[in-house]
Amino acid sequence: MLKGKHIILGVTGGIAAYKSATLVRLLVKAGAEVQVVMTPSAKQFVAPLTFSTLSGKPVISEFFTANTGQWNSHVDLGLWADAIIIAPATASTIGKMANGVADNMLVTTYLSAKAPVFIAPAMDLDMMAHPSTTRNLELLKSYGNHIIEPASGELASHLIGKGRMEEPENIVRVLSDFFVPKDLEGKKVMITAGPTYEKIDPVRFIGNYSTGKMGYALAEEAARRGASVTIVSGPVAVKPQSSDIRIVSVQSAREMLDAAQKEFVDSDIAIMCAAVADYAPDHYADKKIKREKDEIPVIKLVKNPDIAATLGKEKNPHQYLVGFALETDSEQSNARHKLHSKNLDMIVLNSLRDSGAGFGTDTNKVTIFTNDGSSESFDLKSKDRVAADIFDTIIKSQK
Ligand code: CTP
Repeated sequence: MLKGKHIILGVTGGIAAYKSATLVRLLVKAGAEVQVVMTPSAKQFVAPLTFSTLSGKPVISEFFTANTGQWNSHVDLGLWADAIIIAPATASTIGKMANGVADNMLVTTYLSAKAPVFIAPAMDLDMMAHPSTTRNLELLKSYGNHIIEPASGELASHLIGKGRMEEPENIVRVLSDFFVPKDLEGKKVMITAGPTYEKIDPVRFIGNYSTGKMGYALAEEAARRGASVTIVSGPVAVKPQSSDIRIVSVQSAREMLDAAQKEFVDSDIAIMCAAVADYAPDHYADKKIKREKDEIPVIKLVKNPDIAATLGKEKNPHQYLVGFALETDSEQSNARHKLHSKNLDMIVLNSLRDSGAGFGTDTNKVTIFTNDGSSESFDLKSKDRVAADIFDTIIKSQK
């Protein structure tokens, strides 16, 4: 998303300025062109040579270059930028930006620019908590700037609290998410994810190895594209990075069905990514089953509801229902059969015969079948990239 983008990185005078060197490195690696603008006090923390070497461009700090007299136009710079990041942003620069105090090249450029602005504050906890900092940040937000909230932890003063500049990796993520086309804006997306646990007794259950990674990657992608997202999630260790994703936590297939049916009513797109246990014990022992008797207990199983097929029956014409098929043999015909028998609009096949696909991996290799009879096979990719392919295909087939 950052390939070819023109980014101004404003570095101000705080100890976190050393992290901005990594930030330049990551932005350049992502394909962005980076112009570093430093405030005079930033140069006390990191030498401009570090930034000019990493960005491949001379750092701008003054209104004109002393030895040549060359004028650095803040207006041209502001127009060149696709985005401006101020990281670290000190309390002083935040105050100047909020109040239009244009006494250095960075604030002047900020005031002339039309591009979106991202501000990553970094300061001691008491400065961060001061009402004037809070008010200035609120003002900046009200002008449409994006605040990348600082994290809590040990600060340069060795005090512990809120004020650490967000890590460069996360700043790059916020920025690249911003440039993702918002083609799911106004849509509600519901995703089932993870395994289900079918209780045997208070300490045992029937489950499977699903980790929920694919479902959660789909949720992140939908949120990046502007959808309102709900995950109906079985028990998993993964957590969504986006705070906008709603999680409805369930354990069993029955609970997952109830939650999914409720969420489906006003969903535009539903993706059945959960590895639902096909069977559950027909009886729950409310006390732990003991080993002392000689006889070996037999657990009788009953069939669980098929969530995808149930939603397939309840589906309205405007709703788009996607299933997954995890197969070990006759993959294509099994996937096509599930597409039709569950009344899905699309099915995503992953085969356990492909290495790097399936439960617990960070990658997946899929073939997508749509109900118009077409199919497309994709290479082995990260689950994030697979999620992007799935939404691209959904959007294409809805046109
Ligand atoms: N699914 C579901 N509820 C179930 C079983 C499956 O919603 N009780 C959904 C899965 O989330 C997936 C699709 O149906 O989107 C296919 O799941 P899969 O486990 O591949 O197939 P099954 O229908 O269970 O058939 P089989 O186990 O025989 O392959």
